[in-house]
Amino acid sequence: MKRIIWGLMLVCVQMCGQIMSECCWGSADMHNTSPEGQYRANGAHNPECVAILDAGAQYGKVIDRKVRELCVESEILPLDTPAFTLKEKGYKGVIISGGPNSVYAEDAPRYDADIFRIGIPVLGICYGMQMMNKEFGGQVIRKDGREDGQFNIEVDSRCLLFKGLEKVQKVLLTHGDSIEKVADNFRTVAASSAFPAAIANDKMRLYGVQFHPEVDLTVNGKAILRNFLFDIAGCTGNYTLQGRELECIKYIKETVGNSKVLLLVSGGVDSTVCAALLHKALHQEQVIAVHIDNGFMRKGESQRVWESLEKLGLQLKVVNASHAFLHGTTTFPMDKREQSNRTRITKMLCMTANPEEKRKIIGDVFVKVANDVISELNLKPEEVFLGQGTLRPDLIESASRLVSTKADVIKTHHNDSELVRQLRDEGRVVEPLKDFHKDEVRQLGRELGLPPDLVMRHPFPGPGLAIRILCAEEPFMERDFSETQVLVKIMAEYEQMLQKKHALLNRVESVTSDEERLELRKVSSKQHLAATLLPIRSVGVQGDCRTYSYVVGLSSEKDPDWGDLMFLARLIPRVCHNVNRVCFIAGGLVREPVLDITPTFLTSNVLSTLRQVDHVATQVLTASGYSSAISQMPVVLIPIHFDRDQVSRIPSCQRSVVLRPFITHDFMTGVPAVPGRDIPVDVVSRMVSEVLAVPGVSRVLYDLTTKPPGTTEWE
Ligand SMILES: *[C@@H]1O[C@H](CO)[C@@H](O)[C@H](O)[C@H]1NC(C)=O
Ligand SMILES: *[C@@H]1O[C@H](CO)[C@@H](O)[C@H](O)[C@H]1NC(C)=O
Ligand SMILES: *[C@@H]1O[C@H](CO)[C@@H](O)[C@H](O)[C@H]1NC(C)=O
Ligand SMILES: *[C@@H]1O[C@H](CO)[C@@H](O)[C@H](O)[C@H]1NC(C)=O
Repeated sequence: MKRIIWGLMLVCVQMCGQIMSECCWGSADMHNTSPEGQYRANGAHNPECVAILDAGAQYGKVIDRKVRELCVESEILPLDTPAFTLKEKGYKGVIISGGPNSVYAEDAPRYDADIFRIGIPVLGICYGMQMMNKEFGGQVIRKDGREDGQFNIEVDSRCLLFKGLEKVQKVLLTHGDSIEKVADNFRTVAASSAFPAAIANDKMRLYGVQFHPEVDLTVNGKAILRNFLFDIAGCTGNYTLQGRELECIKYIKETVGNSKVLLLVSGGVDSTVCAALLHKALHQEQVIAVHIDNGFMRKGESQRVWESLEKLGLQLKVVNASHAFLHGTTTFPMDKREQSNRTRITKMLCMTANPEEKRKIIGDVFVKVANDVISELNLKPEEVFLGQGTLRPDLIESASRLVSTKADVIKTHHNDSELVRQLRDEGRVVEPLKDFHKDEVRQLGRELGLPPDLVMRHPFPGPGLAIRILCAEEPFMERDFSETQVLVKIMAEYEQMLQKKHALLNRVESVTSDEERLELRKVSSKQHLAATLLPIRSVGVQGDCRTYSYVVGLSSEKDPDWGDLMFLARLIPRVCHNVNRVCFIAGGLVREPVLDITPTFLTSNVLSTLRQVDHVATQVLTASGYSSAISQMPVVLIPIHFDRDQVSRIPSCQRSVVLRPFITHDFMTGVPAVPGRDIPVDVVSRMVSEVLAVPGVSRVLYDLTTKPPGTTEWE
């Protein structure tokens, strides 16, 4: 079961939630009433709100976003919300999300069956449809060999739900429980080859679909949602972004009154838009926006954020703390296994290689610097609010009862300083973006006058470039190094190894299927591929644990077949659990094993190399127009110097660069952008050649690892 959900999530992850194609700007007439009177007073209920009953948080969140893209307000409520509450609050419609369970399972989430009998239109998606069908006397059967995917179905376009659609529709279907007997007084309004894909009772305005209209794999999903919201539930779509901005400004004014707001601007999209919004709502002297430049920002980034806010009339206080960060230290537990509380003082950050220590120093120095800056400002806690750029998905995640508690601890971007903690404890917090999804924040940012390229920027981690430099004093070579090297070589050169009847072949055979071995023979006989185990460690997730382990580089004589490389990249970590990542090494076959590294620390030289390569690679991507097809592109510096002449023994002194264009929509799982599929091969080649032109770069690698087993970042 778990595996199946995972699979479905990966499918959704690849396809759903691309940048909003439609927006709500100006789609309602905003001029005939005064802005003030037009929006609901705090607490009163918007008469055009739709309830999303949540049978599985991942789905609820996506439905919420899609409904809001159609300018209809939505609220996510627990699945067991009483019918009475829905009726009393006057929701225009109810959407029941899909979920991983079967309605017949013992632990199936509970619900109030009366929700179907109070006259509110209901759209049941997957699990929601099964609930509906069961409630009215229908039956489902459990199908074995369940597989979810994109299929064609035939719809009845006379049904309001499918109004205006062609007969054949491509949808993301789930074949878990299938309807065997349709409920009484319901009719089948869409069908796949094998079973009903949608049912309806027009009189009661109840509709159920066995597919996910909220994801992009359902090509006309949005039209179906619109039909439900507008034609069936009677919404008008007046929940526009302009209206919401005004409402938001009102909220800020009411909350803050004459006090001040302190906002720590990280430089990311959320905090920058938050600053601009606070500035628009309040008097100039009320907003105290501080940016601490830790020295790990991208090229020109702090400057750019400062300029953009300055243009809007907001003075961002920029503190250059790069020296404090590079020379910062902290205390660290002496030995984790030991139960005692003894701690030691770390070396300075610029001499520290351990990734955990690096992160802790950065977090703690941030708190120290923030404390100093804040105490200089002489703010009285009773006169200050804390501004935060929290978004709606964060709140949905922490509020959902069905979301797994362990996996989703929300990352706090900044560590708390004293005043910040005090304000938070006292509830003196203002979160103007708490009702917005990421795409909406970007649109809001544009509307507020921030430059488009700034609001479209990819997410960037708090410790920035500091965690994109793999620091090391010596090569990472455990006892398993040589055997692992042999194993990966066997896979890359499988066909030749079969002839030699290598002893370790059985290790590959024990975890692969016949088809996979056939594919392996095909891939390895096309051209000479080499697999090189690199003596460095990178973070990954194997099983349920976070691990720091090896990286494998594949290289080829001629231009590679990216499909073949992806095949190997999936296979290698499955066979070798101590390999977290597989990359392609551009620039021809790597002939010599790599057994040493270039000693690397966070020094200003190393930082400026990475800053420059990140800059040129990002520029090529932006200029190509493919930036928005990719969620993030970490550019990572690794301490590996390839192709040294073994005779003259040039010491290892250069470093290599890894490009990791990555596609994710839920930021939990994701896939690499595959050259030729997600991003043109010539864009990749241009990035590679521009990066190689930066002094000190040995080779350029391209990360082919999905998440899991590899994470987005390298440490
Ligand atoms: C939307 O329209 C409804 C009437 O259908 C009205 O009561 C509500 O106030 C409007 N909302 C906004 C935000 O204009
Ligand atoms: C910050 O200060 C350091 C010296 O401490 C200097 O090298 C660096 O250029 C400064 N950064 C900016 C953006 O001014
Ligand atoms: C470690 O610190 C905790 C809390 O500060 C304390 O309760 C505990 O007794 C200490 N243990 C030792 C071995 O000192
Ligand atoms: C935040 O700071 C506290 C102590 O000030 C520390 O225990 C914690 O590890 C820090 N968290 C991060 C993410 O840096």
